[in-house]
Amino acid sequence: MKVVILCILQSLFLTSIGFGSEMYIELRNFEERDLPDFYEWASDPDVTQFLMWDNYKNKESAREFLVRVAIPHPWLKAIVCDGKVVGSISLEPGKGSKQKVAEVGYVIAKKYWSRGIGTAALKAALKTGFDDLDLVRIEAYVDPCNLASIKVIEKSGMTREGYLRKCILQKGVIKDRLLYALTR
Ligand SMILES: CC(C)(COP(=O)(O)OP(=O)(O)OC[C@H]1O[C@@H](n2cnc3c(N)ncnc32)[C@H](O)[C@@H]1OP(=O)(O)O)[C@@H](O)C(=O)NCCC(=O)NCCS
Repeated sequence: MKVVILCILQSLFLTSIGFGSEMYIELRNFEERDLPDFYEWASDPDVTQFLMWDNYKNKESAREFLVRVAIPHPWLKAIVCDGKVVGSISLEPGKGSKQKVAEVGYVIAKKYWSRGIGTAALKAALKTGFDDLDLVRIEAYVDPCNLASIKVIEKSGMTREGYLRKCILQKGVIKDRLLYALTR
């Protein structure tokens, strides 16, 4: 399906990336009213399979994350499609010597997979994130088994820089990661 992105970031400016068509995607800050949509994918174990966090088991803990982490976060956006929040994308800047480098992370609700939304959202984040956070480098760390995410990253123009063996403890298991990056 073709996609048009309308990316409204912090209600300050509008970016459009044209794919030419029927679906509209907006990136905006989270609000508390997003809880039902957020919980739909954040409670899904298929969605969190490759992620560092476990699926939420109740709405109260999901609400706490929304209020304490997502809403005040400097760059964690809701991905909105036809008025529904279908996922999220974040840029997490490092500290000290890593302050010009951010790691990107993203999630799409299962029933919206394979419609081009993940790729459109990542392209939008790469387009605006450097200026928003004054970055020189954006990194993505991906599980080598996460083929859909590898496709999204490669379609978005990030460069594979390495295969990091046994580099992370994920939910009690030592895992490998592919490292991708885009610099400017
Ligand atoms: C990874 C994720 C964000 C992709 O989102 P999406 O909206 O489905 O992405 P897109 O539709 O833009 O692209 C997905 C591509 O992967 C392909 N794909 C999907 N499942 C696949 C699989 N099991 N094996 C190989 N390719 C696969 C799709 O066909 C599509 O490729 P195409 O454009 O060539 O047809 C989504 O699957 C997701 O939220 N997964 C769970 C969370 C996650 O893993 N986040 C990333 C952490 S690094």
